[in-house]
Amino acid sequence: MQLTSVTYTSLARANLPQAELETIQELSRAQNRAADITGLLVFNGTHFLQVVEGPERAIQGLIDRLRQDPRHSGFEIRDQRKVVSRSFPDWQMELIQVAPSLFEAREAIVDCLPDTVSDVIHMRLLRMTELISTISFQN
Ligand SMILES: Cc1cc2nc3c(=O)[nH]c(=O)nc-3n(C[C@H](O)[C@H](O)[C@H](O)COP(=O)(O)O)c2cc1C
Repeated sequence: MQLTSVTYTSLARANLPQAELETIQELSRAQNRAADITGLLVFNGTHFLQVVEGPERAIQGLIDRLRQDPRHSGFEIRDQRKVVSRSFPDWQMELIQVAPSLFEAREAIVDCLPDTVSDVIHMRLLRMTELISTISFQN
């Protein structure tokens, strides 16, 4: 089956409480399970980096909702591609909270990525981790 994979970055609303992050993760897991979406959500204290993968129509619906979600802004798609298999088949939505520093963030992400992650998504994730770490550092 052909699937769509989208990687985006965004800026979290200032001082987003931990409880709100947990709410996002719980709701995402339930809704993604129902919509056959899987993926990964990285939060470094100021920015989100998310990869979502699934049937094209479900992903498009999610992107539309994400664009309107006031808990983040500056939503920017960094990669969109058709894939034949999932990079995160067992993750309804895994939340990885990382340090603002690039070095620590990269280590934390690489440590928990499953073997199923394709090379291209792996590379994209590391590039985007670098991007959100650099922006956070500048702010
Ligand atoms: C950073 C971030 C990541 C999110 N990830 C997902 C997700 O993977 N799946 C999902 O259904 N909703 C996710 N949401 C929540 C959606 O933006 C939206 O609030 C939710 O899908 C409910 O939309 P509705 O109230 O219009 O049904 C996320 C929100 C944020 C801020």
